[in-house]
Amino acid sequence: MDMILNDLGWRYATKKFDTEKKLSADQENTIKEALRMTPSSFWLQPWKFVFVKNPELREMLKEHAWGQSQVTDASHLLILCRENEVDQNLVNEYFEDMKKTTWAGEEDISGYKNMVTWFVWNLDSEDAKIWAEKQVYIALWNIMTVLAEMKIDSCPMEWFDSVKFDEILELQDKWISSVVILPIGFRASDDKYSENQKVRFDQNHLFLEI
Ligand SMILES: Cc1cc2nc3c(=O)[nH]c(=O)nc-3n(C[C@H](O)[C@H](O)[C@H](O)COP(=O)(O)O)c2cc1C
Repeated sequence: MDMILNDLGWRYATKKFDTEKKLSADQENTIKEALRMTPSSFWLQPWKFVFVKNPELREMLKEHAWGQSQVTDASHLLILCRENEVDQNLVNEYFEDMKKTTWAGEEDISGYKNMVTWFVWNLDSEDAKIWAEKQVYIALWNIMTVLAEMKIDSCPMEWFDSVKFDEILELQDKWISSVVILPIGFRASDDKYSENQKVRFDQNHLFLEI
């Protein structure tokens, strides 16, 4: 079997983490770099990634995630957030970064910059929210695949109160909102969910050839 299929079969939404096993600094850095490499539409990167390292905050958050133990027990708790403002400032920030990190000068980028500016100008706030959230989900799946390859466990979670999370973590002050969370660490040896068989539609159901 392809290695990648093996890894995807190995991973599962971990319900019970081993509280003793922690990610190394190197592993944390690889996770950050892999998140940084996530592609986004127009490469605008309308996201921020928050690692909650304060155990007391994690305890408070658990209450607003239906008491799910992954929030406190996993080695790391990652909150994937969207930028609240998808606007000219974000476009400017991106193109300044492009000028710093590539050979491109103002004259090379102006056509593309106009197009991206036109795109953000035409988004109302609801469209901007939906668009940014879609980008955040690309980062979610990117990092989950990378983690599977690194044999590190995770559990994607939407069952949490994002309003309360934002309040507790004071995310509004940073102009960001939580979208989805990802506890990351190592499965407990007695997590019975690790033995569950994968339930997925078969290829005949999923693929059309037209
Ligand atoms: C976006 C998303 C949100 C999810 N939210 C939760 C959650 O809040 N709590 C939980 O235990 N599992 C959650 N799951 C896990 C799914 O139930 C699980 O991925 C799915 O049943 C497939 O099983 P597998 O990931 O173990 O292969 C979520 C999964 C995704 C992709």
